[in-house]
Amino acid sequence: MVDEPAGHTPVLTREVCELLAVRAGETVLDATVGVGGHARLFAEALGPEGTFIGLDVDPANLAVARRTLSEVACRVELVHANFEELGPVLESVGVAQVDVLFADLGVSSTQLDDAARGFSFQRDGALDMRMDPRLTTTAADLINRLKEQALGDLFYHNAQERAARRIAKRVCEARREKRITTTGQLARIISNALGVDPSSRRTKIHPATRTFLALRIAVNDEIGCLQALLAAAPEMLRPGGRIGVIAFHSVEDKPVKTDFRGRKREGVYRIVTQRPVVAEAEERRANPRSRSAKLRVAIRLPE
Ligand SMILES: C[S@@+](CC[C@H](N)C(=O)[O-])C[C@H]1O[C@@H](n2cnc3c(N)ncnc32)[C@H](O)[C@@H]1O
Repeated sequence: MVDEPAGHTPVLTREVCELLAVRAGETVLDATVGVGGHARLFAEALGPEGTFIGLDVDPANLAVARRTLSEVACRVELVHANFEELGPVLESVGVAQVDVLFADLGVSSTQLDDAARGFSFQRDGALDMRMDPRLTTTAADLINRLKEQALGDLFYHNAQERAARRIAKRVCEARREKRITTTGQLARIISNALGVDPSSRRTKIHPATRTFLALRIAVNDEIGCLQALLAAAPEMLRPGGRIGVIAFHSVEDKPVKTDFRGRKREGVYRIVTQRPVVAEAEERRANPRSRSAKLRVAIRLPE
């Protein structure tokens, strides 16, 4: 069992290690280093001759990763950057190509559990949702500024919320009375719009789940960044290099699946995981976050 960094349990660690098979002396790029859970496993496998590059948009998580990786033997480069800028990041650390490219998408438990970050409908806090403090638009800005039609589209397209139009209408009615500034306020507006009591035992998932996901995706341009990462990956990987991506919902898993299949047709990748790898029962019991995780792995073929 891995000794985990505080606040976040990495998912599918055994499967990630087996399928990405990091070898001593290689170069690993972890595009979402988080608090360094997967990173530490990679770094240990790399040994003193290897290089580990980790990036994250969240400086708070990077600071934890720095501590997590403080005693590993390999060369460690941690960069505050968005994975949509892989090229310049690699250039800045003097690396041309990598053997392993890994991304564990979405937010970490440390971000979700911090009420002040505004990611969670279960913790009342400012409606923010920026993973990167350099971003200038918050979830509150979108909720209070977008037209009803645009809000409905956002809820529907980013998270397939079926009640998108109803929620958008109620949000616009509510904000005419008072600006919406907190997660608690928004969660109540959504529950009322859907006529669902979130504390009821009959409600399996909180009624605000999809709307919050849709906003988070929009604030952080998650799908745009993922597309950029997938587009840049083949050039970054050495022949025989492995790419592994963990997605937590279909809106982010679909682009990965589509990209890998397209690259396979072009003769660029061999797909290792014909179906996405999911957590085993024991992990699902121990770590509820793992229940929606889907890992896909492919190998870069020679030109
Ligand atoms: C699920 S967590 C990763 C956890 C990590 N594997 C671990 O074991 O600690 C996702 C991380 O990716 C970061 N992130 C999300 N989108 C990003 C992006 N476009 N570029 C860089 N980092 C990103 C988040 O800030 C968060 O720290």
